[in-house]
Amino acid sequence: MYPFSKDVYAAKNCWYVASFSRDVTRSPLERWLLDQPVVLYRRENGEVVALEGRCAHRHFPLAEGKVIGDNLQCPYHGFTYAPDGQAVRIPSQERPSSRCGIKSYPTVEKWRWIWIWMGDPVLADPGLIPDHYAIGLEGDDLTTDDAYHGEIEARYQLIHDNLMDLTHVAFLHRNTLGGGGDDSATAKVSEREGEGWLEAERIIRDVPTVPHFAAYLGYAGNCDRHIGQRFYLPALHHGWDKYLYPEGHPEAGKMFGMLQVYHAITPARRNSAHYFFATARNFGREAHEEMRAATIAVIQEDVWGLCHVERMLQACHGNVPREYSARTDTQQLLARRKLEQLILRENEALCEERIME
Ligand code: FES
Ligand SMILES: [Fe+2]
Repeated sequence: MYPFSKDVYAAKNCWYVASFSRDVTRSPLERWLLDQPVVLYRRENGEVVALEGRCAHRHFPLAEGKVIGDNLQCPYHGFTYAPDGQAVRIPSQERPSSRCGIKSYPTVEKWRWIWIWMGDPVLADPGLIPDHYAIGLEGDDLTTDDAYHGEIEARYQLIHDNLMDLTHVAFLHRNTLGGGGDDSATAKVSEREGEGWLEAERIIRDVPTVPHFAAYLGYAGNCDRHIGQRFYLPALHHGWDKYLYPEGHPEAGKMFGMLQVYHAITPARRNSAHYFFATARNFGREAHEEMRAATIAVIQEDVWGLCHVERMLQACHGNVPREYSARTDTQQLLARRKLEQLILRENEALCEERIME
């Protein structure tokens, strides 16, 4: 499946964001994740439950069901499931069968996100979730906002492609984040790689402060911008946009503002993806609604671009013509390859397990 060279879809043995915390309540919520229906709700004590969203009896969508105590009842014939997925009531039988059950998925609620593990539950180590203090989502130094969630009509790989090639900032975001020039496309890139992550940063010198944020930054002159992005494979990107006084300014080199952005990407169906977007900043601290509106405007530009590419790909009916990649695409191509390797390794491990059985 494009952009992979093999017909593979997504890695399962990893943490993905399933929802913002605020969206999971005592009413069941349906989310398609990795092409599977999932239903999310809270127990009486507030803990999150994530179950397969399809009744074991006749496939009824369980998000239409009713939460009773900690359990979930299917509204069709009343089968009732416990948080571990086991059927605890089949109204037409005296006792439920131990063979009747649905999948239950491990979850972790961290910051304002609910992370889910769709693969083998035995491997679900919460320590694998990127450190929220290290990336600025928790702690007191920054003001954070959960800004946006949408299931967008584009396969998840396209969002990773988009984030791994920030030359698009100068064009797709020309009127918002781009600041009106080509600088983010032409600036030199420095790239780094670590255990489970890839990073790219551009330093753009002496350019106008982005008008989109100038009012909140309290400075509208020229600045140096450090734009970077780190991809924690396979589900989270942490980006930053730092504003520094340029050469010639009395406080040259001093940072006067920093915006951090978090893009959690979760495959939804084969050709759609959940896009969870959050921000942290050290300016405009009280301007929650204004900053949210400003950042959503940027995301909508991305969504517009991604949906166009997805429609074009679908029109190819599997025969996607060969692409030309620019020199700046190196990291994007590396990310594609690493994602594909992750999936292939998982598939191989699964095959080996089956042979051993
Ligand atoms: S389909 Fe759910 S109880 Fe029959
Ligand atoms: Fe973008």
